[in-house]
Amino acid sequence: MTVKIENPIFDKLGLKYPIVEGGMTWAGTGALAAAVSEAGGLGFIGTGYWHGDDVRKEIKRAKALTDKPFGVNVMLLSRHIREVFDVIIEEGVKVVATGAGDPSPFLDELHAAGIVVMPVVPSASMARMMERKGVDAVIAEGMESGGHIGRMTTMALIPQVVDAVNIPVIAAGGIGDGRGVAAAFMLGASGVQMGTRFLTAAESEIHENFKKKVLKAKDIDTIVTGEITGNRARVLKNKMAKEFVKNEVNEIQKPAPDYETLEKLESGTLKAAVKEGDKDHGAFMAGQISGLINDEKPVKEILADIWEQATDLMGIPNTTK
Ligand SMILES: Cc1cc2nc3c(=O)[nH]c(=O)nc-3n(C[C@H](O)[C@H](O)[C@H](O)COP(=O)(O)O)c2cc1C
Repeated sequence: MTVKIENPIFDKLGLKYPIVEGGMTWAGTGALAAAVSEAGGLGFIGTGYWHGDDVRKEIKRAKALTDKPFGVNVMLLSRHIREVFDVIIEEGVKVVATGAGDPSPFLDELHAAGIVVMPVVPSASMARMMERKGVDAVIAEGMESGGHIGRMTTMALIPQVVDAVNIPVIAAGGIGDGRGVAAAFMLGASGVQMGTRFLTAAESEIHENFKKKVLKAKDIDTIVTGEITGNRARVLKNKMAKEFVKNEVNEIQKPAPDYETLEKLESGTLKAAVKEGDKDHGAFMAGQISGLINDEKPVKEILADIWEQATDLMGIPNTTK
C-alpha cells in the first residue's frame, strides 16, 4: 500500500506542499505567514488576544508580501473575538484556524464569506463534535507541541482522530523534518502543521534570544506550565517556567483564573519572550522537537527539504520540483 496525499481543501487553496505553519501569537507574524504561503505552504498569522486593528495591520503586512492565500489563527476566548472576525471577513482572509473552544457560533457567517474553518482539537471526541457542527477540517494537535496543549500524544491522537471523522485531519505536534511528516501521513493525516520548526526560519521575527534558545535546546528542555490552573502550555525551561511550576505544585487546586488574569499572564509573558527576548520572565513557547532544530534557513528551503525527505521516505514522487 502506498500513501495517498489527498486534501481537497489544500487543492482548492492551490498549495504546493500539504504543510501548514501553525498560528503562533506574536511569533507568527504577517511576514512569516506570507513567507510560508509564498513558498507554497499555508501560513497563519497568530492573533491571541489582539484587538481587531492589530489583526488588520498584520493581515495587510502579509498581503503586501504575497498574493497567495494565508490564514488567521484566532483565540476564541478573546474578548475581542467579534471585531477580529469582522476584520477577517472584511479583509477577505481565506482560512481561519481556531483555538480554545468551539467556533460553531461563527461558522455560518464565515462559510458565507467563503472562509475555510479548521479548529484545533486535542481529542477524537472533540474532532467528532466539530465535524457534526460543520467545520471543514480539524487540526489534531498532540502534547509534544509548543504553546497550549492537550493531553494526548500526536502518535496516539492522529489515527484515532482519522478514524473518528470524514473530514481532512491535519497533524500537529512534534513534527520537525521529513520523517515526522511521513509518519503523520502514515497515520492517516491529510496534512501537517508545524510551529516550532518555523521559529528559527530566516523570516521569523522573534527576538534573537528566543531563536538561540530553540537552536540550543535539547530534547528534554521543555516543561509544561499550567497543570493546576488548567491552562497547560509547553515552554522552554527558564527562570519563569521553573518558578511557575514550583509554585503550582505547592498550591491547592483552584479554578482557572478569570479572563483578565489569563490575558495578562499569556499575552504578557509570550510577548516578553518574542519581542524582548526576556530570558528570565518570558514564556519561550516551543515544542519537544526543538532539540532537532539547529539551523536558521529560509522558509522556502525548510519546506523544500522537508518535502524532499518525506516523499522519499513515503516512496511517492516529489512533484514540486
Ligand atoms: C510560540 C508559539 C505560539 C503559539 N501560539 C498559538 C496560538 O496562538 N494559537 C494556536 O492555536 N496555536 C498556537 N501554537 C501552536 C502551533 O500553532 C502549532 O500547533 C504547534 O506549534 C505544533 O507543534 P510543534 O511546535 O511541535 O511544531 C503556538 C506555538 C508556539 C511554538
